[in-house]
Amino acid sequence: MKNLLVTGAAGGIGSEIATYASKKGYRVGLMDANHEKLKEVEAEIENSISLPVDITSEESVKHALDTFAETPDGLVNCAGIVRFGNLLEQQVKDFEDVINVNLLGCFIVSCSVARLMKEKGSGNIVNISSISGGKHPAIHSGAYAASKAGVVMLSEQMSLEWGKEGIRVNAISPGFIDAGMSAEHYVDPVERKKREGMVPIQKIGSAKDIANVVMFLLSDESSYVHGENIVVDGGVMNSVLANIGRN
Ligand SMILES: NC(=O)c1ccc[n+]([C@@H]2O[C@H](COP(=O)([O-])OP(=O)(O)OC[C@H]3O[C@@H](n4cnc5c(N)ncnc54)[C@H](O)[C@@H]3O)[C@@H](O)[C@H]2O)c1
Repeated sequence: MKNLLVTGAAGGIGSEIATYASKKGYRVGLMDANHEKLKEVEAEIENSISLPVDITSEESVKHALDTFAETPDGLVNCAGIVRFGNLLEQQVKDFEDVINVNLLGCFIVSCSVARLMKEKGSGNIVNISSISGGKHPAIHSGAYAASKAGVVMLSEQMSLEWGKEGIRVNAISPGFIDAGMSAEHYVDPVERKKREGMVPIQKIGSAKDIANVVMFLLSDESSYVHGENIVVDGGVMNSVLANIGRN
């Protein structure tokens, strides 16, 4: 049986990834700071083990990996936070928290796991970024876009340094997703319709849309894909000029 670690596994997208991986036969380590939610998710997913963790702490991550006890075949870095606010009013602490969880946390978990994968000579890492990290910062979103741009570049660097160790690394940049930290935007039907209209394929994505691509990247079907950032957004990133219109 293959082993997979998922950070942010108590969240909307992370729990869907963990669920899908379990259905595909993985034993899944559920890593998250939300201990209560983690227990609920663990109860619903076969062959899963909850690993309460603060990914910004190397010690906490080491403890989680010791508890998991196996060298993971795959790691999905999905934990993330956002602290809204315009830059001139943002508190340094909020900016710091976002960088720490989204970027430093990805670094700490990836390095801790990659050391084990290197010993084994194989592994597969998928880092969840965002379209915000790819030239489209959302207004009033504090450090979020900067942290996610960092995740894309960090993934590229990991791919350069760890490819020869047999570790494949890629990133995914989700667009408008009705799950987790964004679910509240889609409760209001007017707001939902507005956002759907901005997407070239006219629909909002789901956590399953992201989990599908994660599973592809973890599988041998993608064995020659390395150092990529796969945008999963229904075409939003390319739609800047779509509203100009032309007869
Ligand atoms: N939902 C979207 O529309 C969307 C779009 C683009 C990218 N993303 C990214 O996808 C990922 C998952 O987002 P989501 O929508 O499922 O959000 P979510 O808030 O439901 O899940 C994030 C999880 O990360 C966990 N977490 C936060 N800090 C942690 C820490 N220090 N240690 C361990 N766990 C911690 C939270 O407890 C939470 O369960 C995030 O990285 C997010 O930035 C989401």
